[in-house]
Amino acid sequence: MNEKPDTFDFYEDKKKNSNKIILVTGGAGFIGSNFIKFILDKYPDYKVINFDKLTYAGNLNNLSSVEENRNYVFVKGDVADKKDVKNVFEEFDPDFVIHFAAESHVDKSIINPEIFLQTNVLGTQIILNFAREHNVTKFILISTDEVYGSLGKQGSWKEDAPISPNNPYAASKAAADLLIRVAHQIYPQLASCSRSLSRHRPCLAFRKNRRNL
Ligand SMILES: NC(=O)c1ccc[n+]([C@@H]2O[C@H](COP(=O)([O-])OP(=O)(O)OC[C@H]3O[C@@H](n4cnc5c(N)ncnc54)[C@H](O)[C@@H]3O)[C@@H](O)[C@H]2O)c1
Repeated sequence: MNEKPDTFDFYEDKKKNSNKIILVTGGAGFIGSNFIKFILDKYPDYKVINFDKLTYAGNLNNLSSVEENRNYVFVKGDVADKKDVKNVFEEFDPDFVIHFAAESHVDKSIINPEIFLQTNVLGTQIILNFAREHNVTKFILISTDEVYGSLGKQGSWKEDAPISPNNPYAASKAAADLLIRVAHQIYPQLASCSRSLSRHRPCLAFRKNRRNL
């Protein structure tokens, strides 16, 4: 599973230098890969683990500019597979988790909703559980404004607008958001989510069912 460079013992280096380790799930995707490059550039003391299943949406070429960076390591794994997640937490003991990994294409969710529930809902719960066991001090789920439903050509939502998803992708992200709330309420676990707007990328033109922004 682990494809870290032989020359570098990530965790030993952390112990010696008290560097922070960030576990980024879904880091081979569109937004996660840009986030990783940003962090490595801006915070040279931080170490980043990119934990990604490499579905059709993941592409390590997005990260070719950092693959030799000593502060970066790629680990192939599935957020919905307890064994994979256990291994990555036990090996690296991250301080922070930024959870991007998701099935993210609305049209695909209409055709095959099950994998969206597995990755986006079950996967989020599994990552949350291990983050709690490992005393992760910051957990951020990257969610979406699609949990609020659809806007017309104009308009906006406030953070506390009613949750009103219109497709299985949005419903699975809304469920994951609620799991963050539950973790916060009952354990309590330091976890939050960010409902970001759509980002533009080449394949966006193929998304026929997106709401108008
Ligand atoms: N792109 C947008 O416009 C947008 C807007 C709002 C929110 N978001 C959210 O941001 C996050 C990232 O979006 P993106 O556009 O970069 O997505 P993406 O589809 O480009 O990338 C998703 C990544 O997750 C990985 N992945 C999928 N299933 C996995 C699994 N089971 N285990 C581990 N890795 C898995 C894929 O291999 C891929 O690298 C998602 O959670 C999405 O819901 C995206």
